Amino acid sequence: MPERETLVRVNNLKKYFPTHGGLIEGLLTPQKRFVRAVDDISFDIKKGEVMGLAGESGCGKTTTGRLIMRLVDPTEGEIYFEGNDITRLKGEELRRFRPHMQMVFQDPHASLNPRMTVGENIGHSLVIQQIGTKKEREERVKEVMSRVALTPVKDIYTRYPHLLSGGQKQRVVLARALVLSPKLVVADEPIAMADVSVRALILEMMIRLKDELSLTYLFVTHDLATAKYICNRIAVMYLGVIVEIGTVDQVFHNPMHPYTRALLAAVPVPNPTLRRHHIIARGEIPSAVAPPPGCRFHTRCIIAAPTCSERVPPMVEVDPGHRVACCRLDEWKKRTI
Ligand SMILES: Nc1ncnc2c1ncn2[C@@H]1O[C@H](COP(=O)(O)OP(=O)(O)OP(=O)(O)O)[C@@H](O)[C@H]1O
Ligand SMILES: [Mg+2]
Repeated sequence: MPERETLVRVNNLKKYFPTHGGLIEGLLTPQKRFVRAVDDISFDIKKGEVMGLAGESGCGKTTTGRLIMRLVDPTEGEIYFEGNDITRLKGEELRRFRPHMQMVFQDPHASLNPRMTVGENIGHSLVIQQIGTKKEREERVKEVMSRVALTPVKDIYTRYPHLLSGGQKQRVVLARALVLSPKLVVADEPIAMADVSVRALILEMMIRLKDELSLTYLFVTHDLATAKYICNRIAVMYLGVIVEIGTVDQVFHNPMHPYTRALLAAVPVPNPTLRRHHIIARGEIPSAVAPPPGCRFHTRCIIAAPTCSERVPPMVEVDPGHRVACCRLDEWKKRTI
């Protein structure tokens, strides 16, 4: 396959949120403490691909998406979109840039305005961006609604969100993201709230729309089975850092990081006769306020050595495009499981 152009590039991106402890905690520890939601990640998203971001709850997936969307300001690092540094865009410049990137938010119930009809919800960003006349906006909204199968369009256009099913709400959120013809869609767990029966339909629709509208997706999910179905490449995150990145084939068929293997072991397999990686990470995810030193995964890793707590593992390219951050890589590669 020919090398695809890069749409987004993030370099050494960090986001630390100040924690708001209680009064007593504030008095006892006067120095400010931070949640290291994203802590030095670098990766790119190629034009036309579905780049997956996977990992357990709290590992920083949504924050990464919000950083790329420029909905939150990074603590450090840079974000490039089509080669242009967008890290410090502000005010009017940022508003003009917004249509290129849109986000499907994690919780469709919370992200729709209950006092606006479906049509108003979807068309709201056209109003904000001052695009077209009222009639033109209505036509555009209806066109997008039929693309995401929110039919009969005429009925649903005037309906309020609380009257919709989970799957319909998900389609409204998708339509709202598409109405400005973006180049990049950050889809944050886009099927998590939909009924199991319509999840596959929505995923299929997303793949079809990607081709029809020349979209690129950053697809955020904690569910590796979904990621395998829709993504071209996957970055696996753990406690704010990327531990492994590669094509779906590399990450699923040749997982190199003990954490990736643990995640894969937790994915249900429909065929019970298939061989499985029988490793589950031990213990709980540590706090992102004080992550473990060295390799962040060492407190849960089944092959951790004393050095793992002393050294931050560098990203090593094990195959073209397949990179892994593990101090025990050589040891680990030898194990057959
Ligand atoms: N606005 C914020 N203020 C303070 N802490 C935050 C904020 N947003 C996120 N965090 C913290 O940053 C860390 C990463 O959160 P994030 O929402 O990015 O994780 P996630 O991988 O999307 O998790 P989930 O799978 O549950 O959606 C968490 O510890 C979270 O509590
Ligand atoms: Mg999230």
